[in-house]
Amino acid sequence: MTHHGPAGHHGAPGHAHAHDAAPQDDELAQILDLDAELFADHLAATTRRIADLATGGVRHVVDLGAGSGTGTFALLERFPEARVTAVDSSATMLDRLTRTAVARGLAARVQPLRADAGQPLPGIDAADLVWASASLHHLDDPAAALKGLFTTVRPGGLLAVAELDGMPRFLPDDAVPDRPGLEARCRAALTALQTEHVPHMGSDWRGTLEAAGFAVEYAHTEELRLDARTPSPAGAGQYAYLALRRIREAVDGLVDATDLAALDTLLDGGAQDVRHRGDLDVRSTRELFLARRPADTGR
Ligand SMILES: C[S@@+](CC[C@H](N)C(=O)[O-])C[C@H]1O[C@@H](n2cnc3c(N)ncnc32)[C@H](O)[C@@H]1O
Repeated sequence: MTHHGPAGHHGAPGHAHAHDAAPQDDELAQILDLDAELFADHLAATTRRIADLATGGVRHVVDLGAGSGTGTFALLERFPEARVTAVDSSATMLDRLTRTAVARGLAARVQPLRADAGQPLPGIDAADLVWASASLHHLDDPAAALKGLFTTVRPGGLLAVAELDGMPRFLPDDAVPDRPGLEARCRAALTALQTEHVPHMGSDWRGTLEAAGFAVEYAHTEELRLDARTPSPAGAGQYAYLALRRIREAVDGLVDATDLAALDTLLDGGAQDVRHRGDLDVRSTRELFLARRPADTGR
């Protein structure tokens, strides 16, 4: 089961299942691609760190909850010998990922697999690297899934888990002068929803990885910041627009009407709209865990 819905990227809650969420998935894919583009340096540093720890070659990568393929394509670039099995429960995502692979001349190195990442993956074992970015928190039982993934990774291979604390923050506190703290209040409403609908967001991933038998060799939490004031990077305004629109849908009825109306002024195409303003300040907290299946364990 998936939990991406009204503000689904990065853990905002929703109720839609993959098969009835195609338009939302298309919009989510745009958000994911913009995130990868705007935080490209972070993604490159992440794959470099994986390469530093990888031993014995990286020829087969499994991208769990691959989405539009941000990780798939970054890893194909980092590991020129590798092919990627891109696993996702959403046909919309996999179609998009496949089209991108074709457009980039990488189709021969990408195998899309529509499957529930929380269940054993048919015919997939002993991968050199399993990459799970912003996907484990969607699973019903990530702890059980990680235990099941133990044999999906070869002895000595790596499991990389990238997680985050929700949608990025986009605006300074005083973005709407008569509603200071507007974005923070909306995020607080979202957090309450997340606690109910995406309970695994913000889990103790280190503990869960260790309980599954992996040895955590690298763990790092970092606040990424894209100071977009001058000049605004292309894409920042569109990212803010798509994300805040999802947040607006999710918090409708949960924040007061004045806040909702103020949020609308950020999205209505007028002077305050996030797509035109010069004060975006995009911040996002990211966690990365690199864990190894011990080489000498024959479980
Ligand atoms: C927030 S996106 C992350 C996509 C990508 N890994 C990235 O970081 O850009 C989460 C993805 O996980 C997929 N997903 C959610 N639940 C899943 C499940 N049970 N099995 C497989 N994929 C799932 C969603 O369809 C979505 O594409």
